Amino acid sequence: MTESVEIFEVGPRDGLQNEKRQIPTAEKIALVDLLSTAGFRRIEVASFVSPKWVPQMADSAEVLAGIRRAPGISYAALTPNMRGYDGAKAALADEIAVFASASEGFSQANLNCSVAESIARFLPILEAAKADGIPVRGYISCVTDCPFDGPTRPDAVAALAVTLLDLGCYEVSLGDTIGRATPETLTAMLREVTARVPAAKLAGHYHDTGGRACDNIEASLDFGLRMFDAAVGGLGGCPYAPGAQGNVATEAAMDRLDALGFSTGLDRGIIDRAAALARSMRGPA
Ligand code: HMG
Ligand code: MG
Repeated sequence: MTESVEIFEVGPRDGLQNEKRQIPTAEKIALVDLLSTAGFRRIEVASFVSPKWVPQMADSAEVLAGIRRAPGISYAALTPNMRGYDGAKAALADEIAVFASASEGFSQANLNCSVAESIARFLPILEAAKADGIPVRGYISCVTDCPFDGPTRPDAVAALAVTLLDLGCYEVSLGDTIGRATPETLTAMLREVTARVPAAKLAGHYHDTGGRACDNIEASLDFGLRMFDAAVGGLGGCPYAPGAQGNVATEAAMDRLDALGFSTGLDRGIIDRAAALARSMRGPA
């Protein structure tokens, strides 16, 4: 029997957040509605961050209000602080995500605060989400390399993963934010993290700047990870991580997983149509 691997589609958020052209809300909704027919269990569609920091995500409430919600799919939103949490809750996000960095340099650039301060901001979010019954995912950025601080220590990632799970996150997604991880550096990090956290609580979130995201997925499978984030069309990047390019393309991740004998349960024809749609939403480079 083929073993299954889940792909968490993050294209409508991570894929689009870095696009320069202000994409009309209706186009974002059309992309999410198409993705909702592909077989995903979770799709990240929104981000309740400061519109001054990420203008592309300013219409997140409208996106959540406009999509046709398919039964069984959890529509997710990023929330950096309580203001973001309140917005996501009001817009009826099914789950939310807090996002921290394993490196101080990226934490300052992305959240304008230290790692410890970011965790302090997450505490009331996790408390409120627990009371409201809203599941919270945790992201860790720069798990092997930071654009500001250089290589990241694996023990810093492991400690942060433990902290996020202890706070109540149901899963921790490990972000190679700038796509610089290699199977070797990733392996060193995963060895440390999986010694302290069960692999079933971890997801791989690999950007493909260095063209190694699929190799990194493959290396992660050896550590028992069965959850990976990807974006149709390979769009994406983080506006506060210089050099960060697209997430691994959903279609490329599917191909690699298929070749390795894992099933994603996704409809390849719909994924190809969604990838073409996502790419057509890009403005001129
Ligand atoms: P700040 O400037 O330190 O905070 O930013 P502030 O509290 O002084 O607020 C500044 C302004 O933003 C104020 O407005 C606030 O009201 C407003 P003003 O008074 O100037 O008119 N504001 C908000 N507006 C809407 N929603 C909110 C919100 N909060 C404050 N939630 C802040 C701190 C966290 C807000 C800012 O740094 C921020 O928004 N950062 C988000 C950056 C971001 O979204 N990055 C991309 C996502 S992370 C990522 O892509 C990595 C990931 O994919 C994993 C990986 O690849 O590694 C997840
Ligand atoms: Mg990302």
